[in-house]
Amino acid sequence: MKFPDIKTTLPGPNAAALIDVDRNHVSPSYTRIYPLVAENAKGLWIHDPDGNTFLDFTAGIAVCATGHCHPHVVNAIKEQANKLLHMSGTDFYYTSQITLAEKLAQLVPGDGDNKVFFANSGAEAVEAAFKLARWYTKRELNIAFFGAFHGRTMGALSLTASKTIQKKHYNPLIPGITHIPYAYCYRCPYNMSYPECGIECVRWVEDTIFRTTMPPEEVAAIFVEPIQGEGGYIVPPPEFHRELQKVAKKYGILYVADEVQSGMGRTGKMFAMEHFGVVPDIMALAKGIASGMPLGAMVARSDIMVWEAGSHASTFGGNPISCRAALATIELLEAELMENAEIRGEYLMTRLRELQNSIECMGDVRGKGLMVGVELVKDRDTKERATDWRNELIQKSFQKGLLLLGCGENTIRFSPALTVTAEEIDVCLSIFEETLREVAG
Ligand SMILES: Cc1ncc(COP(=O)(O)O)c(C=O)c1O
Repeated sequence: MKFPDIKTTLPGPNAAALIDVDRNHVSPSYTRIYPLVAENAKGLWIHDPDGNTFLDFTAGIAVCATGHCHPHVVNAIKEQANKLLHMSGTDFYYTSQITLAEKLAQLVPGDGDNKVFFANSGAEAVEAAFKLARWYTKRELNIAFFGAFHGRTMGALSLTASKTIQKKHYNPLIPGITHIPYAYCYRCPYNMSYPECGIECVRWVEDTIFRTTMPPEEVAAIFVEPIQGEGGYIVPPPEFHRELQKVAKKYGILYVADEVQSGMGRTGKMFAMEHFGVVPDIMALAKGIASGMPLGAMVARSDIMVWEAGSHASTFGGNPISCRAALATIELLEAELMENAEIRGEYLMTRLRELQNSIECMGDVRGKGLMVGVELVKDRDTKERATDWRNELIQKSFQKGLLLLGCGENTIRFSPALTVTAEEIDVCLSIFEETLREVAG
């Protein structure tokens, strides 16, 4: 079995020298949690410039779906780089963008009659969805959720309600957005329990919001993550999206699924909305779509994407190399990785639930496929958030060569590449368990 191999104190001398230069010249707004300098990587294993080897359970924040530098993706990139680097897909035509558009249109839930707008990132995909929803409905109001993360451009940031630091000094943002509580059953905002609650969080939209502050006929769209990502890997109850979409449909409101983090096979299905049996009107995709090449996509039904030429575009969006990388990624997902995500995800959840039996601070273990979160608490009854333990666990795991990240206030996220093996999960969990016991006493 392969283990992380840490030969120096961290950061090692070469990494420390690079970080010094970074400190002088790279934006201080970036949120580096620990001093990892990635030099080269393969699969789930990252090497730093000092010869240390790390096991990566972050996948570059749920991006490297096929693992670092999968040969099939690297070859596709090389092949495309020798043919065509750029020709601005919003002004001209090229094969890889057209082929990928056809593939994505068929891949998303629904009848396949869809169109794709290409962007460079998740925020840009959300931004495009925001604009299309306004353009199509000619309505000005929108609904999004507390805890949601949709990106950091001004439009996407207006929909985001994750951390105030992300909004500080940027107001006023886009008006007309109302944030409502997400279906966070472990900490129900209505102090109710599922299923006796009758999905109060959906009823509340119609009974309260639409009767008091938002005329529903003025609402363009509901923006929602199928499983909340940055908010804490929160899985809503099975009927949540179905019931909410019913309300949306009643008033001609578009249902926009932000699948930037949950999409592209991570949950064991191509899109997380498939677990909920919902066909969204618009979908935002990015992160895992091209195994690390920058690409975002907004997919909408053809009868919705009817905006006219010039109403939205992007010079780099749908870059030929990113599109080829996406096609190669999808080939791998369909051939085996989506299934692997389901199988390994179940294994990871089972093992975590076993640990939960003997480790008191593991308050909630939740997820789908390889989108798994463990919420740490000081006390299972009071559910007091163990944010300090969570943060210490991440730091100590790094020192031992395991890369983890948090999400929400007190949740550890497990988002490894979809190529992860049972052995790699075992290694991850042996370090996780040992460190969590040290941290939580
Ligand atoms: C659900 C979701 N939407 C949008 C974004 C923004 O993506 P990007 O950072 O590529 O702009 C993220 C990033 O974490 C995300 O998780």
